[in-house]
Amino acid sequence: MQARKSLDRILPAMEAKFEVALARQPEQWNGFKQRLERAWPRLFRDLHALYGWQYDFFYTLEQLVLLAMRAWLDRSAELRDLDTERAATPHWFLSEQVCGAVLYVDLFSEKLARLSDHIAYFKTLGINYLHLMPLFAVPKADNDGGYAVSDYRAINPDVGTMEELAALSAALRREGISLVLDFVFNHTADEHYWARKAKAGDSEYMNYYWTFPDRTLPDQFQRHLRDIFPTVRRGSFTWCEEMGRWVWTTFNSFQWDLNYANPEVFRAMAEEMLFLANKGVEVFRLDAVAFIWKRMGTDCENQPEAHTLISAFNALVQIVAPSVIFKSEAIVHPDEVVEYIHPHQCQLSYNPLLMALLWEALATREVKLLAYAMRHRSRIPEGCTWVNYLRCHDDIGWTFADEDARAVGIDPGGHRHFLNTFYTGRFPGAFARGVPFQFNPDNGDLRVSGTLSSLAGLEDALEKGDPEWIELAVRRINLLRSIIASAGGIPLLYLGDEWGMLNDYTFLTDPAKAGDSRWVHRCKRRWEARKDLEDSDTLEWRFFHEMVKLFKLRKSIPAFRNGGLEVIDTGNPHVFGYTRTQDSQKVVVVCNFSEYDQALDAGWLPTLGAGSTVSDLLHGEQLKTAHTVVLEGYRARWLEISR
Ligand code: GLC
Ligand code: GLC
Repeated sequence: MQARKSLDRILPAMEAKFEVALARQPEQWNGFKQRLERAWPRLFRDLHALYGWQYDFFYTLEQLVLLAMRAWLDRSAELRDLDTERAATPHWFLSEQVCGAVLYVDLFSEKLARLSDHIAYFKTLGINYLHLMPLFAVPKADNDGGYAVSDYRAINPDVGTMEELAALSAALRREGISLVLDFVFNHTADEHYWARKAKAGDSEYMNYYWTFPDRTLPDQFQRHLRDIFPTVRRGSFTWCEEMGRWVWTTFNSFQWDLNYANPEVFRAMAEEMLFLANKGVEVFRLDAVAFIWKRMGTDCENQPEAHTLISAFNALVQIVAPSVIFKSEAIVHPDEVVEYIHPHQCQLSYNPLLMALLWEALATREVKLLAYAMRHRSRIPEGCTWVNYLRCHDDIGWTFADEDARAVGIDPGGHRHFLNTFYTGRFPGAFARGVPFQFNPDNGDLRVSGTLSSLAGLEDALEKGDPEWIELAVRRINLLRSIIASAGGIPLLYLGDEWGMLNDYTFLTDPAKAGDSRWVHRCKRRWEARKDLEDSDTLEWRFFHEMVKLFKLRKSIPAFRNGGLEVIDTGNPHVFGYTRTQDSQKVVVVCNFSEYDQALDAGWLPTLGAGSTVSDLLHGEQLKTAHTVVLEGYRARWLEISR
């Protein structure tokens, strides 16, 4: 009731304000109004929960409707057409046709303007979801790989301009490729205009951040907080000399956490987000979602208000730019990860649990933890799906649930220690060549950096020069890739991995990067290696063509739509198995995580009667399964059963 009343008060005033513009597009205005009326009760409820106690709450509401109208009026005809089109296919991102990739513009093509020259390359790979790592204006020195944003409306001048971004998004869209960009909304750079105003003592902008005159409150908060980058700095607060105050900085000292308890911050960030949506962004990757709300006495991660805030951003987008969806970046306990996945929050989410446990299974050659965790913790709401990846620009953290490890007889702490030792190549016989990231001596925590190929043993094998080891590494890589292509959700390829790039240690010579080992896997594109992709004798060629084949194949298998994955008990400790079903098609995927052949009893496959014909879609083979299915070392099969 309150919600309806407030809208009834606000709308006529807005109609009067924009009378001329609205008269020109009565039908479109009606569409906007319908969306507003539909989403309003939720937006109102969310905002009321966050800011309802403030004396000027009505003003907050009014300002948001004003912002929504302005942003909608600014939205191009082309993007409004996309909104209409997507209204008819709202679940486009659940399709088996969607395959993703991610890149850094500066490392890939140097300039934004040159990226469109590579559209043909993306199309060869079958990519239609393209995430560009943050490319906004940033401080010159360290800027956390673009995650310290100085201005959301300006592109880093070394890379290009906002006009070029808009042109690129249009060019991509014409080719059926959706543009994905980060919404870095937990913090800004300390060089952002708001931070500069705060430093100059402007109290309005000081309220945009969490600032404190002395250590009293920071000390109380600190007791429960986790250090994200402990080797760079300890504690979550930074003294700002100019302001003479402490500032909350969860990540680096130059990344100032925004204060969402202030409704003005929500409004201001919503304005930045809608500005970018109007440049043609179709998916926002919501960065560091877990950290956006602080509460004394807690670890200030995954607070209920974080979800309310995301829901409010989501409602605004559904009103103004309804084709836009969100992807969550929550690298936290698996039960917390799924809390961000909802049609009213993020329709997509990274799947850090699958990612970490694939590496876990590769190291141990056993799938019990992977199977257990996937069986118990990968359920997500209808209309949402995972983004499955093997590696991204960040480190790998072992974020499995301790309870799951214990349930399968594994000591979680000891196991994480083993995995870190293994993946940094210090375990006898380990094939991995990862690099330690952010060791915390207080609790022994460590994460790992490294490219897909180096972690999977290719770097080590090439150095040994042993063809057998090389072959094993290639198989491991292809095994992992076949899983993200079939496991349910959008497979996300970190570009460079399609041809098997190795760790690049040159970051150590750059003082702005040397302290952050994640740069070891953020490599510059070696375009000179392009010729290797044409030479069928090279490993690059093999990786590349396998990748192309895999995405093509995935797109031909309707059972790979949607997110659901049913883990099956393969009866073999080295073989991970799951079924994917859509309408009448059922595919059983089996993956051998050991280097030795594994025979599976066909009677075992619940869906396989002995004597039925089985096609292995992955290898294009017909199998006669009178008794057994044989899986060579590190091989997967995608089995479709026909009777
Ligand atoms: C996200 C990014 C990471 C960055 C952090 C702070 O986790 O993926 O690269 O360091 O946020 O913005
Ligand atoms: C932590 C954070 C995550 C961030 C990462 C960067 O895992 O939870 O958001 O991406 O650190 O290393």
